Amino acid sequence: MKITIFGTWYVWLVTGTCLAEVGHEVMCIDIDQNKIDKLKEGIIPIYEPGLEELVKRNYKEGRLLFSTDAKTGIDFATAIFSAVGTPPDENHRADLRFVKIVAETVGKHMDDYKVFINKSTVPVGTGEMCKNIIKQELEKRNSPLLGGDLEGGFDVVSNPEFLKEWAAVKDFMTPDRIVCGVESEQAKKVMNDIYKSFIRADKPLVFTDLKSSEIIKYAANAFLATKISFINEIANFSEIVGANISDISKWIGLDPRIGSKFLHAGIGYGGSCFPKDVQALIETGKDFNYDFKIIKATEQVNKIQKVKIVDMLLDKIPDLSWKTIAIWWLAFKPKTDDIRDAPSLDIIERLIGLWVSKIKAFDPVAMENVSRIFENQDKLTLTFTNYDALKWADALLVLTEWDEFRNADFDKIATLMKWNIIIDGRNIWNKDDLLERGFVYEWIGK
Ligand SMILES: NC(=O)c1ccc[n+]([C@@H]2O[C@H](COP(=O)([O-])OP(=O)(O)OC[C@H]3O[C@@H](n4cnc5c(N)ncnc54)[C@H](O)[C@@H]3O)[C@@H](O)[C@H]2O)c1
Repeated sequence: MKITIFGTWYVWLVTGTCLAEVGHEVMCIDIDQNKIDKLKEGIIPIYEPGLEELVKRNYKEGRLLFSTDAKTGIDFATAIFSAVGTPPDENHRADLRFVKIVAETVGKHMDDYKVFINKSTVPVGTGEMCKNIIKQELEKRNSPLLGGDLEGGFDVVSNPEFLKEWAAVKDFMTPDRIVCGVESEQAKKVMNDIYKSFIRADKPLVFTDLKSSEIIKYAANAFLATKISFINEIANFSEIVGANISDISKWIGLDPRIGSKFLHAGIGYGGSCFPKDVQALIETGKDFNYDFKIIKATEQVNKIQKVKIVDMLLDKIPDLSWKTIAIWWLAFKPKTDDIRDAPSLDIIERLIGLWVSKIKAFDPVAMENVSRIFENQDKLTLTFTNYDALKWADALLVLTEWDEFRNADFDKIATLMKWNIIIDGRNIWNKDDLLERGFVYEWIGK
């Protein structure tokens, strides 16, 4: 099949590439000329394990095309994915500006039947909105596609994406389920043709109505975020009563009704999806006079949890002026350079507000993006290695969990640091081992 995708960034470069990998011809359209030029030169502007090789191969073999020309993209295919960003606006709602532009552009240029597929995470009712925008554009130019009857000229489908950054390729190639909100048999057939090579007996392609499909994505993210805030609350309580949060999470997680994933106490959730989707769902609820009580609490707990590590540090070093604080890892999770809404950003801001003398930080892939945010901040130094960040540091804050450092060289750490204080926001190390080695070691849910 021929497929066009509008928006070629984190998720959609993965979507386009994986669709090409199973034999479709995919044209990726982006308004950012720089991104498209880089992709044509084989430079992948994001870090995602396994992606580079697939992009290069599919591009070379002619199944993956890149362009900034919207009309060419619309003429190219029947199936048109809108995969543009839906960042939070100033009121924490999903900003649908880019989705509206894509729907308008499709309505303006389409000359035959199209399926407009919303892949972005969009609030309930967006499919309906896109239908109206496309209809209006067709009406404006009196398109023959109207034929006196608006039915038949196009379909709008909701097809939310559930992949995770850093496992995006694997998640896309072997999805748990593919959800499509459709309104016609014709659209159902197109979606089936796109995804038939991904379907397995236990990994179905499921069809539902537009609204349910739109809500499924928000419900999934809100549920996972709630699990994280839930275990963080239990961790905070465990700290007070002296219980062991690792044991608690492990042993409740064995109950299949609960499940062990997303039950690790830490410094809360971040990233480009959970924070914005949780907030957007709360705001959409307000539009329908519905008050999401549990989801509001999830967000509230997370806000506190995100900077709790600084309180733990203050407990050990009450005056941070003239102190050097090391930070290991900056993205919201390992193996991604995406630092949107990462807790590290709030933590760095708070440390600067507390007059630390210096923050020395390292992350294998996210430092370039962080340096752009703190461009003129001379208190932040980004170092060449993990261990460089520790030289003369008074304390180390661990904000993510890179597996390579589960067995860190603690003798080296002890010689490099001024005071051996470690505050572990992800509970990655063995407390008995570190305490025995003489470290002051604090962890979440201690
Ligand atoms: N990042 C994730 O892990 C993830 C996972 C599942 C779903 N999602 C959802 O996917 C959507 C996109 O996420 P992202 O992280 O890839 O977004 P992004 O903001 O990183 O990328 C969007 C891309 O769209 C381009 N764009 C904007 N307007 C355009 C237009 N009119 N025509 C063509 N291109 C245009 C931008 O230049 C940018 O490259 C969001 O709704 C997000 O919630 C993200």
